[in-house]
Amino acid sequence: MLEIRNLKVAYKRDGKRYLILRGVDLSVGENETVGILGESGCGKSTLALSILRLLKRNVEFVSGSILYKGEDILRLSEEELRKIRGGEIGIIFQHPFSSLNPCMKIGKQIEEVVRLHSSVYTVSELLKTVGLKDVEKIKNSYPHELSGGMIQRCMLAIALAGDPEILIADEPTTALDKMLEKEIIDLLKELVMKKNLSLIFISHNLGLIKYLTKKVYVMYAGVVVEEGKTDEVLSSPLHPYTEVLIESYPKKGRIKYFEGDVVDIENLPGGCKFHPRCPYVFEDCKWKEPKLFLKNNRFVRCLRQEK
Ligand SMILES: Nc1ncnc2c1ncn2[C@@H]1O[C@H](COP(=O)(O)OP(=O)(O)OP(=O)(O)O)[C@@H](O)[C@H]1O
Ligand code: SF4
Ligand SMILES: [Mg+2]
Repeated sequence: MLEIRNLKVAYKRDGKRYLILRGVDLSVGENETVGILGESGCGKSTLALSILRLLKRNVEFVSGSILYKGEDILRLSEEELRKIRGGEIGIIFQHPFSSLNPCMKIGKQIEEVVRLHSSVYTVSELLKTVGLKDVEKIKNSYPHELSGGMIQRCMLAIALAGDPEILIADEPTTALDKMLEKEIIDLLKELVMKKNLSLIFISHNLGLIKYLTKKVYVMYAGVVVEEGKTDEVLSSPLHPYTEVLIESYPKKGRIKYFEGDVVDIENLPGGCKFHPRCPYVFEDCKWKEPKLFLKNNRFVRCLRQEK
């Protein structure tokens, strides 16, 4: 359904151009649940926003294509794009409060989306679908009058208003406590199944990726370093970065901290971009950048695995 090919995206600063995505390939099939895993700054949100061409002004497409049902989103007119946004592909943004208008009641904001997509649903139906009870009161509330969990449910209602086929959820629960997180994730899982949606779920939380997705892309410094079935990748990682991510995931309340500095995309190292932090680094890694290749039913980008 969705196929991203060799996508390169950059931002401009002081007349210079820095690549955020350095050639990403990703595909999402019908009813497929796909996870994107990686630490802060690896380009997850940029990838999500690229799919709907919602990039900030100083960020631009450099090359590649994003095919939705065979048509390149990057070549669509604004009008064609409007139909895809929300109507075919819905998105829940990473920062829900900044995507709502603080001066407009929730009901009115959802109403606008419903009208835009000539939605088959009413605002009340959408709010009930996402598990909200006192619907009339919520419709008449301003965003600041609602709790974080309620806001996230409203964001989900907005994303579903156009009856999309693909739902992109970018770290939908980072601002919530553990109890609310579980509620929202269960709701997301239930709705994806009920509505036969394809899901792109973005997170740095391994547990959530495992719970919600069948396929996973592990990203590092603007590229995919490992891709495969979620349970296989997370139980027997091939890439050292995936391995370290799994080891640093909190177990029994103990966190093993992940060593090394996070990537600075304005000063990327030569060779494999992970080499300054890699426990298996060897001489070639410092000058040769590995390519993604197929191994054991998995794609991996590592010279050690090529040997
Ligand atoms: N408009 C912009 N201007 C300058 N730099 C940007 C811009 N957008 C993104 N970047 C940089 O690109 C990198 C990737 O950003 P992105 O938001 O895609 O990462 P992310 O993986 O979603 O991180 P997080 O987990 O923190 O949300 C970061 O280093 C970020 O600072
Ligand atoms: S290419 Fe080398 S540095 Fe990079 S992940 Fe593989 S072993 Fe580590
Ligand atoms: Mg992000």
